[in-house]
Amino acid sequence: MVKIAPSILAANFAKLGEEVLEVEKAGAELIHIDVMDGHFVPNITMGPIVVEALRPLTKLPLDVHLMIENADSYIESFAKAGADYITVHVEACPHLHRTIQLIRSFGVKPGVVLNPHTPIESIQHVLEDIDMVLFMTVNPGFGGQKFIHSVVPKVKQLADIIKERNLSIEIEIDGGINEETIIPCVEAGATILVAGSAIYNAEDKGKALQAIKEAGLS
Ligand code: DX5
Ligand code: ZN
Repeated sequence: MVKIAPSILAANFAKLGEEVLEVEKAGAELIHIDVMDGHFVPNITMGPIVVEALRPLTKLPLDVHLMIENADSYIESFAKAGADYITVHVEACPHLHRTIQLIRSFGVKPGVVLNPHTPIESIQHVLEDIDMVLFMTVNPGFGGQKFIHSVVPKVKQLADIIKERNLSIEIEIDGGINEETIIPCVEAGATILVAGSAIYNAEDKGKALQAIKEAGLS
């Protein structure tokens, strides 16, 4: 089963609610929310207030991707705003285990994110504690970038470990996903695919979403 998580980073913010409902209606399984702080990544986007505004609007799980420093200081706000998943970057969390516990303590599903160059060895010892691993297939900070193929073997490596250790962890992939790049990701074991520009820049967003999903299922 392949799940699609449209990234609202590529949506029209002047009609955000409408654009979330449009992808929900078209069969999206999660809504991906990119939070950037201008420190960990060179861009600034949105905070808990956007999660709070979307929460009553959609039934879909809200998948909050934190690209921020000092994540611990903001987890409670995102949890109370209604996040279902909170994912944090390994590269930005010196006390990763503590951060994961903090997310869990608010009843939110914790996940960890790896930049394209970060090896999966860095998360070996927290796999029992998390619900999701998110692989970046672009350098975080912006939508609309080109998919980095060298990440795919890492996805396969983790999928093998998950099977071997009989763990229940979603493998999410984020960056440059379209009808073509989804194929090697699903083959490698991805279960959730984030797509921003490939959906929101299309004239017919629902059709674009369905085409990506079908490519992933074939
Ligand atoms: C990048 C973000 C992504 C981004 C994906 O830092 O984490 O979620 O919105 O956008 P596309 O699908 O356009 O690469
Ligand atoms: Zn993201």
